[in-house]
Amino acid sequence: MSSIDLKGKIERLNKERGAIILAHNYQVGEVQDIADFVGDSLALSKTAAKTDAKVIVFCGVHFMAETAAILSPDKKVIMPDLNAGCPMADMITLDKLRKLKEQHPQAVVVCYVNTTAEVKAESDICCTSANAAKVVGSIPADRKIIFVPDKYLGGYISKKTGREMILYNGFCPTHLRIIGEDIKRLKAEHPDALVIVHPESSPEVAGLADLILGTEGICREVKLSNTRKFIIGTETGIIHRLKKENPDKIFYPASEKAVCVNMKRNSLEKVLWALEDMENIVIVPDDIGKRAKMAIEKMLEVS
Ligand code: 13P
Ligand code: SF4
Repeated sequence: MSSIDLKGKIERLNKERGAIILAHNYQVGEVQDIADFVGDSLALSKTAAKTDAKVIVFCGVHFMAETAAILSPDKKVIMPDLNAGCPMADMITLDKLRKLKEQHPQAVVVCYVNTTAEVKAESDICCTSANAAKVVGSIPADRKIIFVPDKYLGGYISKKTGREMILYNGFCPTHLRIIGEDIKRLKAEHPDALVIVHPESSPEVAGLADLILGTEGICREVKLSNTRKFIIGTETGIIHRLKKENPDKIFYPASEKAVCVNMKRNSLEKVLWALEDMENIVIVPDDIGKRAKMAIEKMLEVS
């Protein structure tokens, strides 16, 4: 089927089902283009929370769709590919978090949104890359903080807020594909370019950047900036949106190797099949969902 036919079918079925298509900034271009809304983890959860649609087609990875399902238990959340997971989210399990809590019983647990519903349910407050500093800053100064699972985001936020935190040994394998050498080479080739990297990057890469921002922050900064050239240190899918919104600006991905294979599992075909079959439903058990929702809602209040 041609991509025009596919798009037409998706649009018809999307209306028929009373659905909304949400896509993360890392999705392949054609999936971003068919979506009703494209954004970062925070904007996607906010949109999922307030939409009137009966069905949410979530084009991203599992923890993001799960967050949408937790916030909207009365809606059907479906994924084009249920196997699109996040290796970083899988690094922290419920057992491991419970052990960490036993070691630090007085600590407040901040979980990155890149976690399973079970881990969120066991945490006090959630955060995304866009609001992590605000969330950590909202915790009383006399309380210890456990931050899971990303040690690099956690380390960056700790430095930014001046709050010492107990970090877990999690990381994003995709962002670690960007190395200092890449940034140094690109900076030498394009000395007038602004370097913006995601806080999941290694401290070496972050140390070479002009700005450290989550995906929505990157999109905002690029739009507002007077600079014409940008070296972008995050998953390469974001370049599609950046080019589309800023046709006169030039983008250099920090590394072509920074590709999240899970984000790339979704395709137009799979979006159509998900809408046709309505089978790839994201299910969160009620009790876990209710507790996880408290951690997410606390985050939304703060941000
Ligand atoms: P953002 O919330 O910045 O979009 O990041 C999500 C993510 O998974 C980054 O790897
Ligand atoms: Fe997870 Fe990294 Fe992929 Fe984001 S880019 S979904 S953190 S593996």
